[in-house]
Order: sequence, then C-alpha cells, then structure tokens
Amino acid sequence: MDYRKYIAEKLKIEIVTEEEISSFIEIPPDANMGDYALPCFKLSKILHSSPIAIAESLANAFSPDDVIESCEALKGYLNFKINRKGFAEKTLESVLIGKEKYGSDDIGNGKTICIDYSSINIAKPFHIGHLSTTVIGSALCKIYRFLGYNVVGINHLGDYGTQFGKLIVAYKKWSSYDAVKEGRLKELTRIYVKFHEEAKIHPELDDEARHYFKLIEDGDKESNELFSFFKEITLQEVDKIYKLLNVTFDSYAGESFYNDKMAPVVKELKDKKLLKKSEGAEIVDLEEYGMPPCLILKSDGSSLYATRDIAAAIYRKKTYDFYKCLYVVAYQQNLHFRQFFKVIDLMGYDWAKDLVHVAYGMVSLEDGAMSTRTGNVVLLEDVINKTVEKARKVIEEKNPDIPDKETTAKAVGVGAVIFSALSNNKIKDIVFSYDRVLSFEGETCPYLQYTVARCNSLLKKCGDSEAYTVTDVNEDEYAVISAIGRFNETVKAAGEKYEPSLITRYALDLASVFNKFYINCKIATEREEIKNFRLSIVKGVKITLTNALSLLGIDTVEQM
Ligand code: ARG
Repeated sequence: MDYRKYIAEKLKIEIVTEEEISSFIEIPPDANMGDYALPCFKLSKILHSSPIAIAESLANAFSPDDVIESCEALKGYLNFKINRKGFAEKTLESVLIGKEKYGSDDIGNGKTICIDYSSINIAKPFHIGHLSTTVIGSALCKIYRFLGYNVVGINHLGDYGTQFGKLIVAYKKWSSYDAVKEGRLKELTRIYVKFHEEAKIHPELDDEARHYFKLIEDGDKESNELFSFFKEITLQEVDKIYKLLNVTFDSYAGESFYNDKMAPVVKELKDKKLLKKSEGAEIVDLEEYGMPPCLILKSDGSSLYATRDIAAAIYRKKTYDFYKCLYVVAYQQNLHFRQFFKVIDLMGYDWAKDLVHVAYGMVSLEDGAMSTRTGNVVLLEDVINKTVEKARKVIEEKNPDIPDKETTAKAVGVGAVIFSALSNNKIKDIVFSYDRVLSFEGETCPYLQYTVARCNSLLKKCGDSEAYTVTDVNEDEYAVISAIGRFNETVKAAGEKYEPSLITRYALDLASVFNKFYINCKIATEREEIKNFRLSIVKGVKITLTNALSLLGIDTVEQM
C-alpha cells in the first residue's frame, strides 16, 4: 500500500499534481505527531496562501476513513495518522504471502540495465581495492532484478595493453608453465614485479615487451596462447572469490573484445569532424567543456583505454539497447568517465545521458596502502580467509554446539567483508578493520545475521503458527510493522540513487526496532491470540531481513 499516493489522491488539491503532493509528504521525526505529514510551505507559493491557512482548510475538508484515521493541522503541517490495525493486517499479509518476493516490484518493466563492475585486470592480483566495485555492482544487479529490470552484469576485463608483452618476456626469462600452474596469480605477480625491477637496470627489456605485445596484436600463435593461459589462470583464481561473494556475470567481454570494433569508431569520429591531431596523436578536444582532451589514438596508431570504452558503450547500446548503462568504478576515474561520456554526446548519441558513472571511495586496511608494481598488495582472498577464520574462532568461543559451524563461519566472515563495503555511503573512503566488522555489537553484519537467527529460534520454540489475527497494535509492534512496510520504497530508492547502503541502513533500522520489540513484548508466555500475532511479526522480520541481506549478497544462518 502506497500511503503517500493514497493521501495525495484523497486530498485532491487543484493545480498541484498527485505525484507532486505525494513527493512532498514526509515521515515526521516524532511518531506521536503522525505517521505521515504534508508540509504546506511549498504549496504556499503555488496556492498563494499561507501554509497555516492551507493546512487548516485541507484538514477541515478531509474525511477520515479506515485507512487514514485522522488528519490534523499543526503549524503549517498536515499530520496524518493511519489506521494501524488496517495497516498491520495489510503489511503482514503481503510479507507472509510474498515471502522471498516481498519488497520486489515491476517498475523496471523489463527495461535493460547494463552494469559494468569488478572489471579486473588480467594477471594482476585481485586485491582489497576491488572489493567495492565487486560487491556494489553485484548488489545493484540484484536490486534491479528485484525491481523488474533485465540486468546484464559485465566484467569489462582489463586484458589489453603493453603489460602483457612485459609478462611474456618475464615468463620466458624467469618462469615456466609448471611454475605458473602451481603459483598462479602469485607467480604472475612475482614475475611482473621482477620485470619492473630488471627493466630499471636493463631498459632494453621494455623494447622486447613492446615487440611481444605487437605479436599478440598481430595474432602470433605462441604469444596469444601464452596470453590466453594467463587469462585462464586469472579467471580461475577470481572465480573462487566470486563464488564466495555470491557474485555472477552475464558477460566477460573485456577490453580486447573491442580490438576489431575500434576502427569503425575512429572513422565515425573522423567523419563527424571530432578528431584533431595533437603532437602526432589523435584527440577529441574538450577544452570548451573544461576538460583536458580525450586521447583516441597514440602517435603510433594504437588505441587507448577511452577508445575501447567508447567502442564498448556503442556496442552495448547496439547489443542490449540499454535503458541505462552503469559503470561501478572508483572516483579516481571521474575524469575519464566525464570525458568519454562527453565524446559519446558529441557524436550525437542522445543516450549519452543514460551512461552513469557510479563512483565509490577507497578501501584500505588499517595498516596502509598498496601498489601492484612493488607487489605490496593485500589480496582480497586473504582478507576473506582471515575474516572467516576469525569468525570460526568467535563461534567456537560463543556457541560451539551449533550444527554446521563451517557454513556459519563462512556466512558470517564473508558477510562481514561484503557488509564493510556496503554499510556507508559509497563515495566515502573506508578503512577495513577485522575486529570492527566481526563485532556483534553495533551496526554490523553479525548483528543482522544474529537477529535473523533469533527470529528462527523464536519460531522454533513457539511454533510457527500460520493463523493469526491482528489485535490492538502497540507502539513497539507498530514500529516493527511500519519498518517492514518501508522495505519496497527502500529498495526503489536504493536503485534510483545507485546506493545499496540505503538497504544496509534499512536492515540495521529494522533489526533495531525488532530487538526493542523483542525486549519489551513477551511472546512465548502470552495468551494465544497475542502470541500468534507477535509470531507473525517475527516471521515478517525474518523474511524482510533475509530478503534485504540477500540483495546485498549476504547469506543468513539458521543458528548463531
Ligand atoms: N580495469 C579497470 C581498472 O582496473 C576498470 C575498468 C572499468 N570499466 C570500464 N568500462 N572502464 O582500472
């Protein structure tokens, strides 16, 4: 039930549309004032009357019904109280019937959203810096699917560039097939780092690397086989982590996929008179838009990161006819995205407005930063394993008797890692702390998983009765049901703002009102009618929290 819409329809204010009114309606900070409020200040300008007078005349004309119980004017606000019993009945019914679909929507109407995320670089370590793009992108995929969109998750692999020439040189000099098979990404990183050290003393190594890169481009068999081998090793390694994180992709079309799709794009840019020569290179001048030029071709004719992104955007539009195409990439690349979006716009594509850079902040560990060249990186896999290991210890201490400890440790550890990257507004930089993410106190993932486990044990203990009637609704009960009722609008807002942290915030709020309810309201010892009503609330919380966490890619557990 959309109360804002209902109120707006009921008010029927001339000249102002129902959509507008419903967008003005707020939830008062103090529930005693009402469940919804319409501030009349914005209406004042439109209706040429004082907010106080508008509120009063609207209140007088309002006829309460079994949905909205009362409407009162107070200091330029119209405060509405909804009929709590009716609200409780409707909300509980929809959550208990909806189950794992509760909160979903069809506003997406089958429109396609492409999401470019994770987008790892071949032969480079999968480090803590990739956590945010991976889990934010994956959460957005799940959120949009839940909202009825058709989602294409794309891993735009970094599989093109001179570094692969370097890698081949390094492999031939200091490694072997067996060593890579055995040491995997660690071995590839080792030889890549060694290459850079050696190249400082022997700069001719760089010429050799360029030679091999050219061989890859020219289709040389041996070089391409080696390159494919490195790619395969990398994908096998990251796949293990994607599985842990509940992350999947629909396409792995990376940078090299566009090798044969760039020439037509360059030609198109030329035909549209957008290309300019500058110091031998081909650029699109963006001075007029306050940006440095977008580099399209180097002086040796080779393409750049932006060239491949332009080709990729055009390809995606043609292939998927997307309604939106999102790029979940760190804010360090802000300029790159602004530049190439502008180029698409200058090419005359009106869908340039549908390209969105979903920027996020950095993740670092308490002990500092990292760089691939020196090999000083914190691997995501190590962070996950260490967190799971610590979770295992906590379980061993707190609750050694639960069945299936291993699954629980994994859900808690992995959940804590995912949660750490989704619990703040995405643009904020975060510092990862093992102790903090695993704490049971405060706003953490274990706290949420524990809340679900608490619901499970209550339902087990008191009987999971299907039948209930809604009795008088007290404040604590109402707070929980009202939170359950806000799930759908939260998911929609998270999709609209590209902000999974709204769901994290929501889950924490729901858990907090639920735990208050749990402390204040007896269940097992109450008389049948109240007990069953309260159990239906418990069940509603369990479903809603489980759904919220699953949109974030976090598993719940039976017992904890
Ligand atoms: N591989 C790139 C990096 O690690 C990120 C790619 C993002 N996606 C894109 N279409 N540019 O920096």
